[in-house]
Amino acid sequence: MLTEDPIRATAGAPSAGRPAAHPAASRIQDARLAGRIMTAEEAAALIPAGATVGMSGFTGAGYPKAVPQALADRIAAASERGERMRVNVWTGASTAPELDGVLAEAEGIELRLPYQSDPTTRREINEGRMEYLDMHLSHVAQTVWQGFLGPLDIAVIEVSGITEDGRLIPSSSVGNNKTWIERADAVILEVNSRQPAELEGMHDIYYGTALPPHRTPVPIIRPTDRIGVPYLGCPTEKIIAVVPTDAPDRNTPFSAPDDTSQRIAEHVLDFLAHEVERGRLPENLLPLQSGVGNVANAVLAGLGEGPFENLTAYTEVIQDGMLHLIDTGKLVGVSATAFSLSPEAAEQFNARAGEYRDKIVLRPQEISNHPEVVRRLGCLAMNGMIEADIYGNVNSTHVMGSRVQNGIGGSGDFARNGLISFFLSPSRAKQGAISAIVPMVSHVDHTEHDVDVIVTEQGLADLRGLSPKQRARRIIDHCAHPDFRPALQDYYDRALHSSYGRHTPHLLEESLSWHTRFMRTGSMR
Ligand code: COA
Repeated sequence: MLTEDPIRATAGAPSAGRPAAHPAASRIQDARLAGRIMTAEEAAALIPAGATVGMSGFTGAGYPKAVPQALADRIAAASERGERMRVNVWTGASTAPELDGVLAEAEGIELRLPYQSDPTTRREINEGRMEYLDMHLSHVAQTVWQGFLGPLDIAVIEVSGITEDGRLIPSSSVGNNKTWIERADAVILEVNSRQPAELEGMHDIYYGTALPPHRTPVPIIRPTDRIGVPYLGCPTEKIIAVVPTDAPDRNTPFSAPDDTSQRIAEHVLDFLAHEVERGRLPENLLPLQSGVGNVANAVLAGLGEGPFENLTAYTEVIQDGMLHLIDTGKLVGVSATAFSLSPEAAEQFNARAGEYRDKIVLRPQEISNHPEVVRRLGCLAMNGMIEADIYGNVNSTHVMGSRVQNGIGGSGDFARNGLISFFLSPSRAKQGAISAIVPMVSHVDHTEHDVDVIVTEQGLADLRGLSPKQRARRIIDHCAHPDFRPALQDYYDRALHSSYGRHTPHLLEESLSWHTRFMRTGSMR
């Protein structure tokens, strides 16, 4: 546990610009690191041009707040001198303007992985100036260990403290930090005193992973089982810089669910009640996995008012709705890899972090999203989508087949392996110009074999046990918006009679015409 302040005692009188009196100094208990405390600018200067940098951060939580900005300033200064400096950036998932935003704005990222949701980064990727590797989040660590991504030069990791014996207390996300620390040649730590000290003990870092043939079962039987240790380990000699910071996570304001989201949530909740009634789900359901955003918030809010008690979650992120369900006693335990809270919820959490410690476990993302565990627990996977086709293939990532929105994130980890895989979306996008139900998806992230239930505000299509033609009829009838339903029905009817084969009827010359029409005219209609 953190006690007193050896660094403040050993660092001598603070001099101008030196961080000895920084509020985070008391979080740095390991006296061996005293000489390595420095400013973000000094730390960023240790990152060579062309380096591959593994940064912490997941859905705007636990990302480094100071070094990326200093690195972006260095890149911008180099650019002004006519020099090109770029780095490869690996993270847990999406970060924040202070990381993705500033580095993308400086055109400083050569390759980005495995997930992003930053508008500037998105622009750079879609305009072809940044390479992007969109990966299943549970696969990242093993892909790095297999060596496909090349060596990792530097890890830049936010922690909430360092114990006297050098163990690292993780921050508000775990993500890939364990892997980055293990694989990087050198480690820069940001110690953020704004993160609540009570995070200590909330994490569960599992050191039992291995590549086949040495892999053994991940022994999680219940969502909040602890199978590891609460600290990240890092050899002290690997740590080349320690930067004290005191800045909050980027928190997305909470927007109350709109009507459409509420209708989607109502369909989901009715369906869950029906599954319980039929004896296919227990009364407290099965561990929930839920993405973030308006629809997910509406589902969680609905669960707060519904009949289900003693709920659990085995999910990727803990959003406002989950915290609320814990407060009301409906949710008794959550496993995740990160928080994704609004400023109000973050404030509430920070003030009472200790109270949540026995209900929340934060794990590395290779474990929070582990296919083996998701399958064992029978997660109810609920994720958003860009579009689905009449046969149930889902596109989560690409607008008009070529423009990436965010990335697949953990949706594939959960959709393929959960007991029931839901995809949720409004039936139309862009003020009604686009149908979310199309003849053929313009990009496939989740195949028809991984998709059980599609839900829009129009209704819910339970696709389990249905053949392609039966699925098409159900999706068109239950999920399509009335503005687009007749055209979908017409496509299907004509395909049924003149398709090359009659198993999954398609008119190939027409199947993507809705998308090309939108690109030509601004509307799919
Ligand atoms: N065609 C074109 N654009 C579409 C679209 C479609 N069919 N469907 C949605 N969009 C656009 C929206 O208009 C919006 O654009 P804007 O930001 O310019 O307003 C944007 O995509 C986001 O859509 P929104 O309706 O606000 O939904 P969302 O925030 O729930 O996001 C996804 C939907 C699919 C983008 C999001 O769920 C996602 O990234 N999923 C993949 C990752 C994932 O599932 N993570 C959770 C796993 S744990």
